Amino acid sequence: MLVVENLHAWYERSHVVQGVSLAVQAGEIVTLMGRNGAGKTTTLRTIMGLVTKRAGSVRLNGEEILALPAHQRFRRGLGYVPEERRIVPGLTVRENLRLGLLASKRRSEEDRLIERVTVTFPRLKERIDQEGTSLSGGEQQMLAIARAMMSEPRMLLLDEPSEGIMPVLVDEMFALFRDMKAAGVTMLLVEQNVERALAIADRAYIMDHGEIVHHDTAANLIANKEIQERYCAV
Ligand SMILES: Nc1ncnc2c1ncn2[C@@H]1O[C@H](COP(=O)(O)OP(=O)(O)OP(=O)(O)O)[C@@H](O)[C@H]1O
Ligand SMILES: [Mg+2]
Repeated sequence: MLVVENLHAWYERSHVVQGVSLAVQAGEIVTLMGRNGAGKTTTLRTIMGLVTKRAGSVRLNGEEILALPAHQRFRRGLGYVPEERRIVPGLTVRENLRLGLLASKRRSEEDRLIERVTVTFPRLKERIDQEGTSLSGGEQQMLAIARAMMSEPRMLLLDEPSEGIMPVLVDEMFALFRDMKAAGVTMLLVEQNVERALAIADRAYIMDHGEIVHHDTAANLIANKEIQERYCAV
């Protein structure tokens, strides 16, 4: 579904992503792991079209999308939950959810989609007319995921969704990812929590200094403590 080949990205003159290749099949959860500063966020941002200085190839369902602007990727079914959440101040939960809609959606569909994501996230339903930034950190993360779901993405890129969230909410979130997978959403998940990521993923890529240094099934990596300690110690 998503095929990334020899991807490079730069911030100014700093060469942050150095020839990354990875693939995610339809229906899979694939995790991208690695130490702080390895280049995981930059890889996701480049796949989404948010890094201007880049080279290589990103194909979504066979179509080359590297040169497309971010909103075009979004329209082709790619969703993104950024590391920094980006809940818009001054807007309610409902208004933040609306920002996730594709521009083509009609009002009736908007109500149906809001109803659907708030069934998944009852906490958001209770707070639907409250300002988004007044939610707790964990609730804001739920809102960021719910907002990404509003465009009904076929493929979702998630950047450290569990960061800073209490364990009971993290359990809920990972249960949700399993449900989303069962509903046919393909996911590329960046996650520091190696144990949880491997428990849910089909396969994993490990990144270090801008390159993919290891790639295996999640089952094999769970048993490979040496690789985990070498590249994933936080
Ligand atoms: N906007 C930016 N401008 C310049 N350099 C940046 C920028 N964002 C990230 N970098 C640098 O690029 C490198 C990779 O950063 P990136 O955020 O992709 O890493 P990461 O693997 O997501 O790390 P973390 O686990 O801490 O989130 C780091 O050295 C970082 O300092
Ligand atoms: Mg990051």
